[in-house]
Amino acid sequence: MIVPATDEAIRRTAERLRQGGIAAFPTETVYGLGADATQDQAVARVFAAKGRPQFNPLIVHVADAVAAARLVEWDARAEALTRAFWPGPLTLVRRRRADCPVSLLAGAGLDTLAVRAPAHAVARALLEAVGRPLAAPSANRSGAVSPTTAAHVQESLGDEVLVLDGGRCPVGIESTVLDLTGDAPTLLREGGLAREAIEACIGPLAGAALGEARPHAPGRLASHYAPRLALRLEAAAARADEALLAFGARVPPGAALTENLSPTGDLVEAAANFFFMLRALDRPGLAGIAAMPVPEHGLGRAINDRLRRAAAPRPTGEPSLPSAQAHATPGNRRYGADA
Ligand code: TXA
Ligand code: MG
Repeated sequence: MIVPATDEAIRRTAERLRQGGIAAFPTETVYGLGADATQDQAVARVFAAKGRPQFNPLIVHVADAVAAARLVEWDARAEALTRAFWPGPLTLVRRRRADCPVSLLAGAGLDTLAVRAPAHAVARALLEAVGRPLAAPSANRSGAVSPTTAAHVQESLGDEVLVLDGGRCPVGIESTVLDLTGDAPTLLREGGLAREAIEACIGPLAGAALGEARPHAPGRLASHYAPRLALRLEAAAARADEALLAFGARVPPGAALTENLSPTGDLVEAAANFFFMLRALDRPGLAGIAAMPVPEHGLGRAINDRLRRAAAPRPTGEPSLPSAQAHATPGNRRYGADA
């Protein structure tokens, strides 16, 4: 359903988002499909609407640098870049703050978060009316190109999704994604802000000076969350020294610790709980995590994708990491480029 982005429509859309609904809205780059970033279930609905078989980390949209610094760790480079280019088509990847209220699902379980302040008047009015950060990937079905008009969004996602129509997006390509988590700032995705503009502000980006190939394919990630404990898939029950990641009404007894993704078998609820519960079960002293089967449809496909990656063998000799820390495993090095 397409509605012109009047003040009244923005107010009503903000109310819907606060209640856990989703809505598409224009930014200066492309249309985004937004949800309250602090609500797991709302974020799960975004993944469901995109029909994505994997959980990719989403960009969290905020009004300004002050709002961003409440979510992620801040430093002089982040300050300089946001002074120069926000609001605008620059997304910064930073470490989450310990008290970050954003859903773990929005960040696909990572310890980092991508943040951006959009410049579009409708996006800014919506953020102000919602009063919370908005997680929003591009408002297209998985595998399709990013939409730059309200009609594109409707063609891609169907008529059920509410689209605030703010006309054609002026930039027309997605934001530039810059990883500021390490010592060397790294371009993860080329986009609406030129690399040269960033380099003029904070100096050369990793790989640029020597003319090397880009260290990361655009929009892709090198690592993501896997539990420290070994994961056993398709488990009928857990042993006494295992934690159980259950799904559905029948939960076999006997596990050292149990979390149920969804007692009613609701895949949106299961996705909303997934990263949180995996971390809750990843306790020292246990032999492993036994995961019950999750149906391979809807968001179940994305849950199973993450479970299989997390269960893949790790490099030998890898130091054991605190459970809340992201690290690469052989099966999970790459996300798809599309999000
Ligand atoms: O212009 C844009 O960026 C649009 C508008 C709606 O803001 N959004 C957008 O979102 O393109 P999406 O989800 O389609 O792309 C987000 C990109 C993906 O390539 C994702 O891998 C990357 O940002 N990303 C998100 N969180 C990340 C993180 N924690 N670390 C590394 N990359 C991340
Ligand atoms: Mg996208």
